[in-house]
Amino acid sequence: MRVEGVRGMRDILPDETPLWQRLEEEIRELFSLYGYREIRVPIVERAELFSRGVGEETEVVEKQMYVFPDRKGLMLALRPEATASVVRAYVEHGLYAKGDLAKFYYLGPMFRYEKPQLGRQRQFHQYGVEAIGSPDPALDAEVMDLAWNLMERLKLRSEGLFLRVNSIGCRGDRPAYREALRGYLTAHEGELCPECRRRLETNPLRILDCKEEGCRALAREAPRSVDSLCPECRAHFDAVQAHLRELGLAHELDPTLVRGLDYYTRTVFELCSRDLGAQDALLGGGRYDGLVELLGGPPTPAVGFAGGMERLAIVVSAQGGGAPSSEPELDVYLVPIGDEARQEGMKLLAALRRRGIAADTDYMGRSLRKAMGVAGRSARRAAILGGDELSRREIKLKDLASGEERTIPLAQFRTDPIPFLR
Ligand code: HAM
Repeated sequence: MRVEGVRGMRDILPDETPLWQRLEEEIRELFSLYGYREIRVPIVERAELFSRGVGEETEVVEKQMYVFPDRKGLMLALRPEATASVVRAYVEHGLYAKGDLAKFYYLGPMFRYEKPQLGRQRQFHQYGVEAIGSPDPALDAEVMDLAWNLMERLKLRSEGLFLRVNSIGCRGDRPAYREALRGYLTAHEGELCPECRRRLETNPLRILDCKEEGCRALAREAPRSVDSLCPECRAHFDAVQAHLRELGLAHELDPTLVRGLDYYTRTVFELCSRDLGAQDALLGGGRYDGLVELLGGPPTPAVGFAGGMERLAIVVSAQGGGAPSSEPELDVYLVPIGDEARQEGMKLLAALRRRGIAADTDYMGRSLRKAMGVAGRSARRAAILGGDELSRREIKLKDLASGEERTIPLAQFRTDPIPFLR
């Protein structure tokens, strides 16, 4: 009986993994250039980490989280995001004690029970950074510079990308803004979707990122968080924008951008692509100055972002950057003829691989002609070991690009650099 994979959880097949590996390498290298060091946090956490950290009222926690009891009844969750986990680790290991800025990066799978579509899965992969310990607006700009730099490195067309930025202020600004929003939305209650009518009481900010058209139309006309900022948050946001200008980073102010997670304060941003359709956010992030304290640490400001690997792979491929290399992957394809040669071949292969030479052979009982066909598709050279060659302790090498052939002693083949042949 065939058992199928789970909806929304994709296999990444060997034809795709070279692109993923390249993206991961670029990401790691770039994040290191900005002083971030990798952190690996567990995929499973206490569910409470996200209900407290990300917010009980958010879509992610309320509707999308995979939650289950372990065998002793402890409620666990597959992580829907990593910021809460990184902050948990930061607090749990007392990493604040150094009093320094801590810069973390991560790569890995996240889980959200969403309706699958292009660029949206139930298991997806994020790359992200978290800089914990400084309120400096220059750090917000640095994080956005990092995001832009990644896209430049991957040679994505900048016309196809846009950075949306907003400030949603601090906890202190929230009540006044919430009331302004609630007042406006209550006056238009009839136009809200049933879900948002309920949110009007509990968390009107969430209405601003509802996907229903009626709610979106209202959101566009709603009071703007930037108009309710306290003087400190206003100055902070002005400084962030000034730094973005100094760095020459294109951005647009988007007053409707509030992001879907409750921990954000002050700066929020998304880098979006015109090549992605409805799920256009390549990455998103912002400040979360209250989260460390909320999760039991000392008051500590922080900023970060995360992006979806799948979406990045889609955009890079759409722009022609994902084509698999046409270079054969193996250095040598060994073609032994006869049982004795096959035995000797096993030893030769083991020796080649120990020397770091990519080599393979036929395990399907193919004829010489068919085996040479496989060699031609997968390797730069064929090494043919027939009975005659074996009795003379020799092996025949064939360069599969030029067709050139040469016979060399087996001892040499085993130990010396493989000659030629181009
Ligand atoms: P987020 O906006 O929920 O933020 O997710 C970040 C990115 O992950 C999105 O922009 C998108 O590219 C990708 N993503 C999210 N959900 C899916 C999905 N179902 N399928 C495919 N890709 C998806 C966060 O997760 C925050 N933790 C970001 C952050 C870090 N803020 C501060 N630090």
